[in-house]
Amino acid sequence: MERFKIITFGCQMNEDDSNSIKSFLENLGMIEETDNKKADIIIINTCTVRQHAEDKALSLLGTLKKWKTKDKKIFFIGCAAERLQKDLKNKFKYVDYVIGARSYDKIYEILSREIKNTVVANIKTQGKKVDYETIIRGCNLKCSYCIVPSVRGEEKPKPFKEIIESVKNKALSGVKEIILLGQTVNSYRDFQEKKDFTDLLKEISRIEGIKIIRFLSPHPLFFNSKFFEEYKKNPKISRWIHLPLQSGSDKILKKMNRGYDFKKFKEITQELKKADPKTSITTDIIVGYTDETEKDFEDTINAVKEIRFSMAYCFKYSPRFKNKDPLTVTETELERRHSILLKEVKKIAKETMNEKIGSIEQVLLYDSRKGKTNTGYNCCIIDNNEEKKDFLKIKITEIKNNTLYGRAYD
Ligand code: 5AD
Ligand code: SF4
Repeated sequence: MERFKIITFGCQMNEDDSNSIKSFLENLGMIEETDNKKADIIIINTCTVRQHAEDKALSLLGTLKKWKTKDKKIFFIGCAAERLQKDLKNKFKYVDYVIGARSYDKIYEILSREIKNTVVANIKTQGKKVDYETIIRGCNLKCSYCIVPSVRGEEKPKPFKEIIESVKNKALSGVKEIILLGQTVNSYRDFQEKKDFTDLLKEISRIEGIKIIRFLSPHPLFFNSKFFEEYKKNPKISRWIHLPLQSGSDKILKKMNRGYDFKKFKEITQELKKADPKTSITTDIIVGYTDETEKDFEDTINAVKEIRFSMAYCFKYSPRFKNKDPLTVTETELERRHSILLKEVKKIAKETMNEKIGSIEQVLLYDSRKGKTNTGYNCCIIDNNEEKKDFLKIKITEIKNNTLYGRAYD
């Protein structure tokens, strides 16, 4: 057992889990491999949030039947693994391990057992500038369309001190931007230490080396004035806020059990922009949820026009539960609404991006010429930037291929 390959579907939390598994295996002396033929272990980290995500993982698993031998191991892990467990073992007999998202920690134990004979060889220190930190696993809310609570279980926040310790270590290895992850990341609480999400942001911004703190995804229910005050005065908090709206119709929001109406959502976006007008807000929207009428759909389009999101990820509703919240529009209608919404979203995204011309942006550089603004845009530096800086202030001069171009500005 020497070489492994990890294939990841789904959200950033899955990406973070895959990164941890990767580091774990590398620390045991294993080598990451891109070619299936050369790999001894293939780990598929799966998502089940929409049927399509699950289908992709299953079809990949199907193609591995030919690859599989007695000495090669397949791990099917994560959210779809949690949902499908028994069925999966019956259907795909050649899978070695199915480990669901709830028993995620088991994977380390099993991997150690499988590769116990590998010599520790190549412990790597990574040169990453951006890294994730999962602060809560699971979710306590019950949005009616969402399967996550049933595959990931109840909210389990990571202890405050553990997070700080982990971020400090990441900062020491060169990480500049930390992305905090949780299904409802801003509901974070450590009851023992009496710390909340804003306390965590404050403490992380004191860690030397950390320049930007981003978080995914906050829920409108958990914003409060303590957060807004901190946001206003703490420039280390990223000015790119991803705030899922899901629908612009109050009737649908209620049916989705989201706990807010459009007015409340809009107020939060206004608070954010009031605290810093540069704030760019992105969102998630589902079209065609159960009983969505043309009027409800129009409410969503109007919401998009009113808030003017910098970007929105638009999803066609995919029912995840048998006999509950079925699709009530035809596939053609679902497709129609989705494409109308996408068109509007893209138009506004382009306009908001164009408004950036002439503005001064903070950029975290990935190399001497390329980076990301703290408002979430990909960015290129036109000047010949010889200095080995991590951060630059730049003045945006033009936009090409969805990327901001600019010159260093002091
Ligand atoms: N169908 C379509 N989209 C969904 N999402 C969650 N569940 C479903 C579903 N059943 C979307 C939501 C969420 C994002 C991660 O995926 O918009 O914010
Ligand atoms: Fe992430 Fe949800 Fe998909 Fe699980 S089901 S991978 S939590 S998006």
